[in-house]
Amino acid sequence: MSTDSPPLELLDLDPDEFLRRGGDVLQWIAKYLGSTRDYPVLSRSEPGELSGLLAPDGPERARPWAEILRDLDELIMPAMTHWNHPRFFAYFANTGSAPGILGAALATALNPNGMLWRTSPAATELEGRVTHWLAEWLGLGDMPFGIINDTASTSTLVALAAARQTVPAYDRRLGMRSVGPLRIYASEQAHSSIDKAAVILGLGLDAVRRVATLSDYSLDPAALAEAIASDRDEGVTPMCVVATTGTTSTTSVDPVAEIGELARANGVWLHVDAAYGGSAALVPEKRALFAGWEEADSVVINPHKWLFTPMCCSLLYSRRPEMLREAFSLVPEYLRSDVGDSRGDGLDGMPLDYMNYGVQLGRPFRALTLWMVLSTYGRETMVQLLRAHLGWVAELASMIDAHDDFERLAPTPFSTVCFRYRQGAGATGEGCALEPVEEDTWAGANEELMARINADGMTFVSHTRLRGRLTLRLAVGNIRTTRADVQAAWQQIQRFARELPG
Ligand SMILES: Cc1ncc(COP(=O)(O)O)c(C=O)c1O
Repeated sequence: MSTDSPPLELLDLDPDEFLRRGGDVLQWIAKYLGSTRDYPVLSRSEPGELSGLLAPDGPERARPWAEILRDLDELIMPAMTHWNHPRFFAYFANTGSAPGILGAALATALNPNGMLWRTSPAATELEGRVTHWLAEWLGLGDMPFGIINDTASTSTLVALAAARQTVPAYDRRLGMRSVGPLRIYASEQAHSSIDKAAVILGLGLDAVRRVATLSDYSLDPAALAEAIASDRDEGVTPMCVVATTGTTSTTSVDPVAEIGELARANGVWLHVDAAYGGSAALVPEKRALFAGWEEADSVVINPHKWLFTPMCCSLLYSRRPEMLREAFSLVPEYLRSDVGDSRGDGLDGMPLDYMNYGVQLGRPFRALTLWMVLSTYGRETMVQLLRAHLGWVAELASMIDAHDDFERLAPTPFSTVCFRYRQGAGATGEGCALEPVEEDTWAGANEELMARINADGMTFVSHTRLRGRLTLRLAVGNIRTTRADVQAAWQQIQRFARELPG
């Protein structure tokens, strides 16, 4: 061994050095969280700019700590879009909350792999417990099974694989050769993760039948019934219906109970995509929007969207965990253990070996992060936070309705408002029953308005297209957002609109 290398066992940071650097990092984080408003919310970095500044090859030797921190500040930070900015109102806002950051640090420090119960009893049993806590809070207390995945895209993929497993002719050994064409139904507003799952499962994109929506953008149950009947007539097997409570563009809510009846009558799996909207079920006065989801075969909700938990944390609930297991369980000899699912049915309905219920074998300790967030805030505080967001956005919706030059383009059941600028045309106040337009005369003005808002750096909003109309979206969901932020954003939007060239 060369004389200038430390012994290999000392190559991780020693405890004193860890404390010193850890102190620097904690201070850095505390300062950052206290000053997110000082950054432009949307990064001003150009494509390739950061790549050009980073060394093309990895460091051959250890770099000094001060240099690493300097690169963080000077190279990496300017290329950040700040999801923790209180005026991040684009897509669906999220939060790296302080308890979430601490929980994630502890999870990383412990670094278990929760593939089997015995590879980390704590990871497994905490996951069962925290998913159950949330199920109770959401009115899903009867769901016997919850699992934490990385994203809703994965949760939906897993749910659809389980749904396929219920098709009588389906044989996992033969795969799609064992069945004829299968169909998944989802509204034309449902998320593209459903299509992606169809691709991954080998069903093909055409397996997803998009069902028409009503004027409020919710799935039309009559159109669904017709679609199922016509598929049956043509020899296509209905496999799954996806109902969404909180669609991505408008946050519309599909009538889950009615859809559930149709699904049950047809022997089809019902999956509820509540990735964003599901958090609102914690708020008692919003619970009615979810009526029927407790009967679903599977439900996905993302605490990493609107429940103050850092990425990645998506919960998948199911009434039929045995179907997930039939779809995913593969136990090679080296993973067989004398305590675990390979021997029985788990603990009080909770699984012991989570590896059998989804895509991943190795599983991080996401339950610890979620547990820290839920334990730090408690249900009451979470309800208070969600209710505040709902209230501020309802206020904003009324202000938009009252303004002659703006109109709302969809109902606002949650914390996201869809609107556009339409100078002098008068607000409709309802905005949801609009007929499709061939040509959107206001698209240019709204694109320009959005570009100006986002270039300014104080506020970030995103867009969608609804019935042919370019639509601006403002979504509240970050824990550090205040009522004043929402009102200031509205003032700013109006100011930029007034400044648009006539
Ligand atoms: C309704 C809905 N479902 C699913 C997803 C996918 O979420 P994820 O990024 O966790 O895969 C989104 C993303 O915004 C969504 O809005």
